[in-house]
Amino acid sequence: MNVFIDKLRKEQNLTDEQIEQLLSTDEYDRELFASALEIREKYYGRQVFIRGLIEISSFCRNDCYYCGIRRSNANASRYRLTAEQIMECCRNGYGLGFRTFVLQGGEDPWFNDERMCSIVKAIKDEYPDCAVTLSLGERTRESYERLFLAGADRYLLRHETADEEHYRRLHPEDMSLSSRQRCLRDLKEIGYATGSGFMVGSPGQTIETLVKDIRFLQELEPDMIGIGPYLRHKDTPFRDCANGSMEMTLRLIGLLRHLFPKALIPSTTALGTIHPQGREMGMLAGANVVMPNLSPLDVREKYELYDDKICTGDEAAECRKCLENRMAMTGFEIVVGRGDRA
Ligand code: 5AD
Ligand code: FES
Repeated sequence: MNVFIDKLRKEQNLTDEQIEQLLSTDEYDRELFASALEIREKYYGRQVFIRGLIEISSFCRNDCYYCGIRRSNANASRYRLTAEQIMECCRNGYGLGFRTFVLQGGEDPWFNDERMCSIVKAIKDEYPDCAVTLSLGERTRESYERLFLAGADRYLLRHETADEEHYRRLHPEDMSLSSRQRCLRDLKEIGYATGSGFMVGSPGQTIETLVKDIRFLQELEPDMIGIGPYLRHKDTPFRDCANGSMEMTLRLIGLLRHLFPKALIPSTTALGTIHPQGREMGMLAGANVVMPNLSPLDVREKYELYDDKICTGDEAAECRKCLENRMAMTGFEIVVGRGDRA
């Protein structure tokens, strides 16, 4: 066995130099993926967990340079779902076997604590066997506490990059890496199952910033790690920047599976967008979660973080069936259940 893979398996770690070497070539990919699959199987077998993604609002007060729903994008169509629409998405999703609902949105002040808590409570009352995951960006510690008390189980907040200078390149002045990291630590302390992650190949990312991302994740010890290729959106300042690479995303999934053997790692929509079989390859590189879309069809195209996003025209039931087939063809099986971390 290759010396890196051998060390990774024994120590769940590598030196900075070794990570840089592993990421800089495709030489180790085959062994890396085979070994990642073995680790994944040890804890999760061939099971795939599904999360029903409900995109509750395309309004956002932030202006991240990479994102299609940034506040300065005057071409973006804005919508927010009503509480009734969100409940309807859950009803539909429950019938399709979803036992986790992910409420994701831009940082939209309309969804204040009162409104969000009441929605979370309504979902937990009606579906006590389901987990509620929130992905609503940066909020105060008090807000995270209220939402947790209302019944939210998990929270997703990607750190995007752990390098100060790179963070500045991706975000305007009024956002900061320290504030993002503060949010993530608060979420963990409060008791959420916490997810972080980053885009692969975002403008200014280097092997060195990726090493920092990995070190930050090791310090945070998140339960979930979401990564996907950066994809351009025509109405952002980064419109001319090249997309991230699928190969690097897969390599990172393989590495993350070794560093975080029990983590929940999704094979993301961005990976499915950059390549027709991207999500299947993500599973074969060590991922164990997929997050199909439960948002109402008429808003799908409006939640456009990047160009050419897949599944914007497909009913939730179609996506569920499609993914079932895709996973089965790859030797995996979607399970009905909350899909908590091993
Ligand atoms: N390409 C890929 N991923 C993106 N995200 C936002 N914009 C893009 C883009 N252009 C990711 C960010 C964010 C998550 C919800 O979507 O990492 O945290
Ligand atoms: Fe949506 Fe295949 S997962 S159409």
